[in-house]
Amino acid sequence: MPHSHPALARAETFCKTYDLRVPILLAPMAGACPASLSIAVADAGGLGACGALLMPPAAIKAWASEVRAASNGAFQLNLWIPDPAPPRDASAEDAVRAFLGQWGPAVAHDAGDAAPPDFSAQCEAMLEAGPAIISSIMGLYPSAFVERMKARGIKWLAAATTVAEAKSAESAGADAIVAQGMEAGGHRGAFEASKAESAMVGLFSLLPAVVDAVKVPVIAAGGIADARGVAAALILGASAVQVGTGFLRCPEAKLPSAWADAIGASAPEQTLVTRAFSGRAGRSVATAYARAATASGAPPPAPYPVQRGLTQAMRNAAVKDNDIDRMQAWAGQSAALALAKPAAEVAYALWEGARAILL
Ligand SMILES: Cc1cc2nc3c(=O)[nH]c(=O)nc-3n(C[C@H](O)[C@H](O)[C@H](O)COP(=O)(O)O)c2cc1C
Repeated sequence: MPHSHPALARAETFCKTYDLRVPILLAPMAGACPASLSIAVADAGGLGACGALLMPPAAIKAWASEVRAASNGAFQLNLWIPDPAPPRDASAEDAVRAFLGQWGPAVAHDAGDAAPPDFSAQCEAMLEAGPAIISSIMGLYPSAFVERMKARGIKWLAAATTVAEAKSAESAGADAIVAQGMEAGGHRGAFEASKAESAMVGLFSLLPAVVDAVKVPVIAAGGIADARGVAAALILGASAVQVGTGFLRCPEAKLPSAWADAIGASAPEQTLVTRAFSGRAGRSVATAYARAATASGAPPPAPYPVQRGLTQAMRNAAVKDNDIDRMQAWAGQSAALALAKPAAEVAYALWEGARAILL
């Protein structure tokens, strides 16, 4: 990897530390991270990723085995740090249920009770799977778990959406910070759910501020979907980039075609941040449901994970019908830059293009 710009030397150091050939990390994407996508990215020299939030322990281990059977490349396993159990409000949930009934099947009375898999059991499964990297979002792992990770030589990448979160992650032992700008597709990683919509910092401001505030390497995430974005992130101080939406149109991502097509057709202003799918703020295509659910007069979403349970029937029906209007179609603001090409070609275009800009 010849280098003339100091940013390239920084990326090279990162690649050496993490045994990568290119400083491109696939973003962990719960519900959108089949092994096939990680195999392709890892084979191209980048880092594979599994957003394990919704996966029971056996599925986490099976995912790691599937990737290892097909690739020697490294990958990260990722979990959300759970929020405290939310308060419940039966009449507010009734209003959401009635609203959702206009968009999909009638919502079962107990739909809001659905809970994600047990966090501790998922943590154990991640340790047993033994990835090179474990990452976190929405908070920090308990210190006892961090110690166990480190004892096994597993590195910890912690997502942060503010300078304060980045500093607390570094203090807790994170080996690198993933600075997630508000351009990012999917859920915002704010440690406190209530701050996800008020502390909306764009990557151009967040990245250099985090780089100045911590000593560990910083990985840039949010709205990076072509070589210009990769080069800009490296110049702003990143050691690597993490790309989510930019890989979602690849055939290996196996997305419903309506979602993949909408990604290719969405200008930055045609995405929005909403709690209407899960109760946690996330950026999606501004679909008919997302717009209606965020319009004045719509019932406020229930907190996470209650809202996720309430919208499950609608979301399932949308995937079955390939209906973008009611699909949970996460997308970052640079969605339209995503290429409908094999993931190896996307990774190559991102990195070789960035090098050409920086050499
Ligand atoms: C479909 C989707 C699901 C996501 N799920 C997770 C997740 O489970 N864990 C996580 O840390 N980040 C998750 N994210 C956020 C990504 O890690 C990353 O911050 C984001 O994709 C970067 O922005 P970009 O999509 O514009 O590239 C998700 C993003 C998308 C698009």
